[in-house]
Amino acid sequence: MNDKMLLYETMTKELDALLENEHDMISNMSNTAAFLFHRLPDVSWVGFYLFQNNELILGPFQGNVACMHIPMGKGVCGTSATTRTVLRIDNVATFEGHIACDTSTQSEIVLPIIKEGTLLGVLDIDSNRIARFDGSDEIFLTMMVQSFVQSL
Ligand code: SME
Repeated sequence: MNDKMLLYETMTKELDALLENEHDMISNMSNTAAFLFHRLPDVSWVGFYLFQNNELILGPFQGNVACMHIPMGKGVCGTSATTRTVLRIDNVATFEGHIACDTSTQSEIVLPIIKEGTLLGVLDIDSNRIARFDGSDEIFLTMMVQSFVQSL
């Protein structure tokens, strides 16, 4: 197992422990964002957007101030929310309609948060490095999103 896999194995257990005794969505979003931001190497922003009133609104996050409203279907986050798919963008400059909250961002991954068929929002993780997120990031982050959803 390589270092990255080992880190993710450890982080998955730590996040489960962090969320084990709390069920409040905002509290768990806050701690999940802080946990991922401080533990993942080479990430510049980690946060949640909540699906409310048919748009995405900024939720708990770590990093620089960010765009507050994202229409469904717009940008990487709005597209992930609308299609309910994980979007892994190696170079945000090539994603048509990318919303540049921070011009330093080079790559990002966005995961939809769905509980029992209901869209709650998305988790957005940005990096200042091109192609920061690969298939293994996607697999482990998907598992961590599942832990988050199960904690609610
Ligand atoms: N880049 C995102 C917007 C959110 S910020 O990066 C925090 C997008 O295109 O949806």
